[in-house]
Order: sequence, then C-alpha cells, then structure tokens
Amino acid sequence: MKLFHSPASPFVRKVRVAAKLRGLDGRIELMPSNPHLSPPELLAANPLSKIPALLCDDGTALIDSLVICEYLDTLGDAPRLIPTAGPARVAALNIHAIANGIMDAAVARRGSAQLPQDEGRQKFDARTKAAVDRALTMLEAMPPAPMDITGATIGCALGYLDFRFAHEPWRAAHPKLAAWFETANALPAFAETMPVG
Ligand code: BEZ
Repeated sequence: MKLFHSPASPFVRKVRVAAKLRGLDGRIELMPSNPHLSPPELLAANPLSKIPALLCDDGTALIDSLVICEYLDTLGDAPRLIPTAGPARVAALNIHAIANGIMDAAVARRGSAQLPQDEGRQKFDARTKAAVDRALTMLEAMPPAPMDITGATIGCALGYLDFRFAHEPWRAAHPKLAAWFETANALPAFAETMPVG
C-alpha cells in the first residue's frame, strides 16, 4: 500500500498511528506529497488533492483518514480500532468527530494565520480557537480514551496543537487530558510519528 503523506498533517498521522497500533506499518510505503501543488499522482488517487490518500495493493484509491482507518481495520489480526456496529460504534465515531474537529479547526486556523489579518480573519481565528477550547473542555470531562480510533485521533489532535500552537498552552486548564496525553504520546505509534515541518 502507498500512503500519500506529509509529515505535518495530523490527518495523515492518524492513519500512521492506526497502522502502527494494528501492526500494519511495514505494509505501507510513504509517498511524500504536497497537496497544495496538486501533483498528478495525488490527483489520480484523490481529485480533491487532499492527503491522506491510500493506494491499496489492488489499485483502489481510498481517501479521507477515517475511511482509510476503516479499511486498515479489515486487514491483519489485531483488534479493530473502530467498533463494527451498534452503540459502541456510534459512541466511538462521535468522540472521533470531536477530536477530528479539533484538527479541522486548528489546521484551518493555522492556514488563515498566514493570510492578511483583516477583521474577517480575526473573527475566523477567534471562532476556530473557541471551537478548539470547547472541544478540549468536553474531552477533559470524558473518561480517558482507550487506544482505539478515539485515542489515536485525540492524540493526533493534541500533538498538532503542541506542534503548531505551542504558544497557546492547553495543559493547565485540562489536567486529566494532559496526563492521558503524556502516556499516549510515549507509545511507539506516537513517538515514531512526531509531526515535522
Ligand atoms: C501543517 O503544516 O500544519 C499542515 C500540513 C498539511 C496538512 C495539515 C496541516
């Protein structure tokens, strides 16, 4: 399998963490790709020119980090990261959506910070920052996440905040989340996929 990849993307990192947690890492070749340049090989896999995109061994192209994680769950013998059905699946996908939403908001905020800061952008910055703050408050109130799709995504979201927003510390206001992250972040799946860029 080939994974179109950037070492800074938290969405790519989620897929890499999932692959490592399920012992599939050795089956994935990383293909460095800059989606802003719309390289033809990425467009052939994903017309939206977004990463991650996964080229399966049979030539099928999969896009979207959660879809790719669902596919990885069908491979190998390790326990699934995403429950297959019922209330457990809905609950896991709901927590995933909160953590993924932190990544969406933080990545959009990071992108907008590089543009001229007119009033509209300042409002956008405040709105996306507030969304992240509220989501962190919600995660702080939840039981510690298991190392399934929820833990993988929360860890990548917090890692991205540390990576791009280190000047906005989140730990003091979220001590339980901070304690959870200290342990999670030391796992090989996270330690071996630290964001770079
Ligand atoms: C970043 O540089 O922060 C970034 C790069 C690719 C995807 C998302 C974020």
